[in-house]
Amino acid sequence: MTDLHPDIERIIISEEDIQRRVAEMAAEIDRDYKDAGQVVLIGILKGAFIFTADLSRKMNVPHSVDFMSISSYGDTAKSVGAVRLILDLRKPITDRHVIVVEDIVDTGHTMNYLHQTLLGRNPASLKTCTLFKKTRDSLDVPLDYVGFDLPDVWVVGYGLDYADTHRTLPYIAELKKEVYS
Ligand code: PRP
Repeated sequence: MTDLHPDIERIIISEEDIQRRVAEMAAEIDRDYKDAGQVVLIGILKGAFIFTADLSRKMNVPHSVDFMSISSYGDTAKSVGAVRLILDLRKPITDRHVIVVEDIVDTGHTMNYLHQTLLGRNPASLKTCTLFKKTRDSLDVPLDYVGFDLPDVWVVGYGLDYADTHRTLPYIAELKKEVYS
Protein backbone atom coordinates (compact mmCIF):
# COMPACT_ATOMS: atom_id res chain seq x y z
CA MET A 1 0.00 0.00 0.00
CA THR A 2 1.25 3.48 -0.84
CA ASP A 3 2.04 5.91 1.98
CA LEU A 4 -0.82 8.14 3.10
CA HIS A 5 -0.56 11.88 2.63
CA PRO A 6 0.87 13.45 5.82
CA ASP A 7 -2.42 15.33 6.43
CA ILE A 8 -4.35 12.06 6.64
CA GLU A 9 -5.02 10.30 9.96
CA ARG A 10 -6.66 7.14 8.61
CA ILE A 11 -8.82 5.78 5.83
CA ILE A 12 -12.45 5.46 6.94
CA ILE A 13 -14.06 4.02 3.79
CA SER A 14 -12.03 2.30 1.09
CA GLU A 15 -12.34 2.95 -2.63
CA GLU A 16 -13.69 -0.57 -3.11
CA ASP A 17 -16.43 -0.10 -0.49
CA ILE A 18 -17.45 3.26 -1.97
CA GLN A 19 -17.71 1.83 -5.48
CA ARG A 20 -19.73 -1.15 -4.24
CA ARG A 21 -22.16 1.11 -2.37
CA VAL A 22 -22.53 3.50 -5.32
CA ALA A 23 -23.46 0.52 -7.51
CA GLU A 24 -26.07 -0.59 -4.93
CA MET A 25 -27.57 2.90 -4.82
CA ALA A 26 -27.72 3.06 -8.62
CA ALA A 27 -29.50 -0.31 -8.67
CA GLU A 28 -31.99 0.94 -6.04
CA ILE A 29 -32.72 4.06 -8.11
CA ASP A 30 -33.09 1.93 -11.25
CA ARG A 31 -35.72 -0.18 -9.48
CA ASP A 32 -37.60 2.83 -8.09
CA TYR A 33 -37.67 4.71 -11.41
CA LYS A 34 -38.12 1.83 -13.86
CA ASP A 35 -41.50 3.18 -15.01
CA ALA A 36 -40.74 6.89 -14.62
CA GLY A 37 -39.35 7.62 -18.05
CA GLN A 38 -36.69 10.32 -17.98
CA VAL A 39 -35.06 11.25 -14.64
CA VAL A 40 -33.00 14.37 -13.88
CA LEU A 41 -30.01 14.02 -11.56
CA ILE A 42 -28.97 17.33 -10.03
CA GLY A 43 -25.39 17.21 -8.76
CA ILE A 44 -24.47 19.85 -6.17
CA LEU A 45 -21.08 21.44 -6.84
CA LYS A 46 -18.46 21.24 -5.98
CA GLY A 47 -18.42 18.28 -3.63
CA ALA A 48 -20.84 15.99 -5.48
CA PHE A 49 -19.16 16.09 -8.89
CA ILE A 50 -17.38 12.75 -8.45
CA PHE A 51 -20.32 10.91 -6.87
CA THR A 52 -22.72 12.28 -9.49
CA ALA A 53 -20.46 11.07 -12.31
CA ASP A 54 -20.05 7.58 -10.82
CA LEU A 55 -23.73 7.21 -9.89
CA SER A 56 -24.84 8.38 -13.32
CA ARG A 57 -22.56 5.91 -15.10
CA LYS A 58 -23.87 3.03 -12.99
CA MET A 59 -27.56 3.88 -13.55
CA ASN A 60 -29.49 2.24 -16.36
CA VAL A 61 -32.73 4.25 -16.29
CA PRO A 62 -32.80 7.06 -18.86
CA HIS A 63 -31.59 10.24 -17.21
CA SER A 64 -29.93 13.57 -17.76
CA VAL A 65 -27.50 15.35 -15.44
CA ASP A 66 -27.59 19.00 -14.44
CA PHE A 67 -25.72 20.90 -11.74
CA MET A 68 -26.27 23.58 -9.13
CA SER A 69 -23.64 25.27 -7.03
CA ILE A 70 -24.38 26.25 -3.47
CA SER A 71 -22.21 28.03 -0.97
CA SER A 72 -22.47 28.83 2.68
CA TYR A 73 -21.81 32.45 3.63
CA GLY A 74 -18.97 31.65 6.00
CA ASP A 75 -16.40 28.92 6.38
CA THR A 76 -17.47 28.13 9.92
CA ALA A 77 -20.67 26.59 11.26
CA LYS A 78 -23.63 27.02 8.94
CA SER A 79 -26.96 28.38 10.06
CA VAL A 80 -30.37 28.22 8.44
CA GLY A 81 -30.63 30.75 5.68
CA ALA A 82 -26.86 31.08 5.41
CA VAL A 83 -26.88 29.25 2.08
CA ARG A 84 -26.76 30.99 -1.28
CA LEU A 85 -27.18 29.88 -4.87
CA ILE A 86 -24.04 30.40 -6.97
CA LEU A 87 -25.04 28.56 -10.14
CA ASP A 88 -28.53 27.52 -11.20
CA LEU A 89 -29.83 24.72 -13.45
CA ARG A 90 -29.62 25.02 -17.22
CA LYS A 91 -33.19 23.79 -17.73
CA PRO A 92 -36.52 24.00 -15.88
CA ILE A 93 -37.56 20.93 -13.89
CA THR A 94 -41.33 21.45 -14.06
CA ASP A 95 -43.07 18.04 -14.33
CA ARG A 96 -39.72 16.20 -14.28
CA HIS A 97 -38.66 13.40 -11.92
CA VAL A 98 -35.78 14.95 -9.99
CA ILE A 99 -33.12 13.47 -7.71
CA VAL A 100 -30.81 15.87 -5.84
CA VAL A 101 -27.35 14.35 -5.45
CA GLU A 102 -25.10 15.47 -2.60
CA ASP A 103 -21.75 14.16 -1.44
CA ILE A 104 -22.48 14.82 2.23
CA VAL A 105 -25.25 15.99 4.52
CA ASP A 106 -23.84 17.50 7.69
CA THR A 107 -26.17 20.00 9.41
CA GLY A 108 -28.73 19.40 6.64
CA HIS A 109 -29.12 23.11 5.92
CA THR A 110 -27.91 22.83 2.33
CA MET A 111 -30.21 19.91 1.53
CA ASN A 112 -33.12 21.67 3.24
CA TYR A 113 -32.55 24.77 1.14
CA LEU A 114 -32.32 22.69 -2.04
CA HIS A 115 -35.42 20.68 -1.19
CA GLN A 116 -37.52 23.78 -0.55
CA THR A 117 -36.17 25.66 -3.56
CA LEU A 118 -36.65 22.79 -6.02
CA LEU A 119 -40.12 21.84 -4.69
CA GLY A 120 -41.17 25.39 -5.53
CA ARG A 121 -40.41 24.68 -9.18
CA ASN A 122 -43.14 22.02 -9.38
CA PRO A 123 -41.24 18.86 -10.37
CA ALA A 124 -43.30 15.69 -10.97
CA SER A 125 -41.37 14.19 -8.03
CA LEU A 126 -38.37 15.13 -5.91
CA LYS A 127 -36.05 12.80 -4.00
CA THR A 128 -32.79 13.37 -2.19
CA CYS A 129 -29.66 11.25 -2.42
CA THR A 130 -26.43 11.61 -0.47
CA LEU A 131 -23.45 9.30 -0.35
CA PHE A 132 -22.44 10.35 3.15
CA LYS A 133 -24.33 11.56 6.18
CA LYS A 134 -22.82 12.76 9.44
CA THR A 135 -24.22 10.91 12.43
CA ARG A 136 -26.47 13.32 14.29
CA ASP A 137 -29.29 12.93 16.79
CA SER A 138 -31.79 14.67 14.59
CA LEU A 139 -31.73 15.86 11.05
CA ASP A 140 -34.65 17.88 9.77
CA VAL A 141 -34.35 16.97 6.12
CA PRO A 142 -35.89 14.14 4.07
CA LEU A 143 -33.18 11.77 2.80
CA ASP A 144 -34.35 9.09 0.38
CA TYR A 145 -31.02 7.46 -0.55
CA VAL A 146 -28.08 7.40 1.89
CA GLY A 147 -24.80 5.61 1.27
CA PHE A 148 -22.88 5.72 4.55
CA ASP A 149 -23.02 7.29 8.00
CA LEU A 150 -19.82 9.05 8.97
CA PRO A 151 -18.36 9.99 12.36
CA ASP A 152 -18.26 13.68 13.25
CA VAL A 153 -14.64 14.29 12.25
CA TRP A 154 -13.25 16.25 9.30
CA VAL A 155 -13.32 13.91 6.32
CA VAL A 156 -11.79 14.36 2.88
CA GLY A 157 -11.75 12.48 -0.41
CA TYR A 158 -14.25 11.39 -3.05
CA GLY A 159 -15.30 15.01 -3.61
CA LEU A 160 -14.93 16.22 -0.01
CA ASP A 161 -12.24 18.79 0.61
CA TYR A 162 -10.19 20.65 3.13
CA ALA A 163 -9.60 24.19 1.75
CA ASP A 164 -10.14 22.74 -1.76
CA THR A 165 -7.50 20.04 -1.33
CA HIS A 166 -7.78 16.23 -1.18
CA ARG A 167 -11.03 16.13 -3.23
CA THR A 168 -9.70 13.57 -5.69
CA LEU A 169 -8.61 10.92 -3.19
CA PRO A 170 -10.50 7.75 -4.20
CA TYR A 171 -11.32 6.90 -0.57
CA ILE A 172 -12.77 8.74 2.46
CA ALA A 173 -10.19 9.66 5.04
CA GLU A 174 -10.08 11.43 8.37
CA LEU A 175 -7.94 14.55 8.41
CA LYS A 176 -5.43 14.95 11.22
CA LYS A 177 -6.79 17.35 13.84
CA GLU A 178 -3.67 19.52 13.78
CA VAL A 179 -4.34 20.29 10.10
CA TYR A 180 -7.62 22.08 10.74
CA SER A 181 -7.52 23.12 14.40
C1 PRP B 1 -20.55 20.72 1.62
C2 PRP B 1 -21.27 19.56 0.96
C3 PRP B 1 -22.72 19.94 1.08
C4 PRP B 1 -22.78 20.75 2.35
C5 PRP B 1 -23.34 19.94 3.47
O1 PRP B 1 -20.41 21.74 0.69
O2 PRP B 1 -20.87 19.38 -0.37
O3 PRP B 1 -23.15 20.72 -0.04
O4 PRP B 1 -21.42 21.13 2.68
O5 PRP B 1 -23.34 20.66 4.68
P1 PRP B 1 -24.65 20.98 5.53
O6 PRP B 1 -25.45 19.72 5.59
O7 PRP B 1 -24.09 21.36 6.87
O8 PRP B 1 -25.37 22.11 4.86
P2 PRP B 1 -19.43 22.98 0.90
O9 PRP B 1 -20.19 24.16 1.43
O10 PRP B 1 -18.23 22.54 1.72
O11 PRP B 1 -18.99 23.34 -0.56
P3 PRP B 1 -18.26 22.42 -1.67
O12 PRP B 1 -19.19 21.28 -1.99
O13 PRP B 1 -18.09 23.35 -2.83
O14 PRP B 1 -16.95 21.94 -1.09
